[in-house]
Amino acid sequence: MKAFVSVADASSLAPGQGRTVEVRGRKFALWNVDGQFFALDDDCPHRGGPLGAGVLEDGKVYCPLHGWAFDAKTGACLSNPARPVACHPTRVQDGQVWIEI
Ligand code: FES
Repeated sequence: MKAFVSVADASSLAPGQGRTVEVRGRKFALWNVDGQFFALDDDCPHRGGPLGAGVLEDGKVYCPLHGWAFDAKTGACLSNPARPVACHPTRVQDGQVWIEI
């Protein structure tokens, strides 16, 4: 059963910033894109690089290991369209970012 889980203080991630958050044994790449939060699976489908430790540019998250690019809002892989990552619904409530998992 899916439920929203609090994962971070919204104020701790400024626009353009992201990081890996771990909840219930799973890792997510949480990114603030122009004030909106997006949560992708953290493991890059190429070789498992941590997408939360990547770089955000023009709405794309670049994997820190070999630079594959992902649409931060959808998880679509721009480097290899056959290898997207899952994108999870988020919301902000009571100053916290919540991810539906
Ligand atoms: S592990 Fe992400 S591009 Fe290689």
